[in-house]
Amino acid sequence: MRQVLQNKLSSTNQGEIISRWEKLSLPEQNLIEKQLESVDLELVASLYQKRNQTISLPDIRKIETVPVLNPSSNSIEAKMEGLRSLEQGEVAILMVAGGQGSRLGTMQPKGMWPITPITQKSLFQLHSEKILAISRKVNRDIPFLIMTSPATHEQTLEFFHAQRFFGLKRDQVFFFTQGTMPAVDINTGAILFEEPSKIFTSPDGHGGTLTALKNSGLLENLKVKGIRHIFFFQVDNPLVQIADPVFIGHHISQKSQLSSKVIPKESPTDKLGNFIQVNGRCQIIEYSDLPLELANRKKPDNTLFISAGNPAIHLFDIEFLDDICLNAKALPFHLARKKVPYLDSNLKRVIPEKENALKFERFIFDIFPFAEKWLLVSTSKEEEFAPLKNATGEDSPETAKLAQCKLFTKWLEKAGITCPNDANTPEIEICPLFAIDTEEFLQRLPKNFNPKYPLLME
Ligand code: UD1
Repeated sequence: MRQVLQNKLSSTNQGEIISRWEKLSLPEQNLIEKQLESVDLELVASLYQKRNQTISLPDIRKIETVPVLNPSSNSIEAKMEGLRSLEQGEVAILMVAGGQGSRLGTMQPKGMWPITPITQKSLFQLHSEKILAISRKVNRDIPFLIMTSPATHEQTLEFFHAQRFFGLKRDQVFFFTQGTMPAVDINTGAILFEEPSKIFTSPDGHGGTLTALKNSGLLENLKVKGIRHIFFFQVDNPLVQIADPVFIGHHISQKSQLSSKVIPKESPTDKLGNFIQVNGRCQIIEYSDLPLELANRKKPDNTLFISAGNPAIHLFDIEFLDDICLNAKALPFHLARKKVPYLDSNLKRVIPEKENALKFERFIFDIFPFAEKWLLVSTSKEEEFAPLKNATGEDSPETAKLAQCKLFTKWLEKAGITCPNDANTPEIEICPLFAIDTEEFLQRLPKNFNPKYPLLME
């Protein structure tokens, strides 16, 4: 091993790698050396040192509830403004799809999961068709940026190619890959290995979007194209109203640097980020960091003090994002304790029974407090949030399917059609290319429409 590398490993608490070195072949040693070049060993050491510090929360006395705009006020003007911005090519769409779907238990990118109630279209297809529909509506190919991670990149790309980009233009879709961080042993801080010549790494959190956007040159590209706003969403939510013109319109008219949709929390411990306000700035406390006492706190009217949940639907002003990218490295890392199978120093595989590893992730919403001008707009779970997180139970394929059927039932009811009144919600699927919202649905629905269930409208 080169002396420089040896010194660096010793000074960053990675002496274990030196002792495993002799057991490896030369090609294996070369591979590890190459991987170590892209690991910031000092950073890993300092994160490990701070592992027992809890994430710093604002002074509890300074926390205020956030103001949330009800979009029905001025929604016609807002919608016109949003459509104008889309027509003039000021908006790009960014989907984060770098997560590994470990809770769902799939080996494939989550976006490939069949999600629609009848035709079983994948999340990737559903989102792409929404973008195709809105692109047709505003007569402009809206750029679609997809952030993958090394774990999801190849398969995602292959899937889009095999399915011919679901009707989108090839040059409308841009893929970029987020970075990774190594996982370390909880007790020693040693970097874990998954193969003799492979360090265990995982995506660096969707906070990695910023560095990845900047480093890929895409951010600059978008600015040159005249893009002014980036609509951000997570691949796992089939109900998201992509590039919702009303949301965009409010964001523009309020000159907001950063806007987010908000859903009301149903219980203090919902697995949602929590919007709060401190000294006039907005920030999110992740559900895993929210102290129970604060979660349970009530207002005088007995409603939750912290009640604004994060469905992860944001709009970023591109100049704001560009400025923040310069400081992206200042965003904190959050630690997660996980079970990670690994090879011990004798190269023997160990399957841990309890959490043995620390993973490090940055969160995109840690940029929120940097925004001087921000806006929160209310939406509801029924209309816009049915995430796919778990294999069964809450936030599962079953609940995501039901939520879609329920939403489409509402659309039919708005058209004066009463759905069967039995205990089961009827199976309904309305393709985004038929209608992307209630308004479009009402316009397209044939007169005297008499539905038969299961109902598929394409
Ligand atoms: C996330 C939010 C939470 C929000 C909830 C809504 C964080 C830290 N928390 O929680 O505030 O209320 O979603 O559903 O984001 N992803 C990447 N790269 C990564 C990690 C994740 O692209 O390195 C993507 C995933 O593909 C997924 C999304 O980010 O689409 C959310 O990740 P997930 O781990 O499911 O976040 P949650 O804990 O559910």
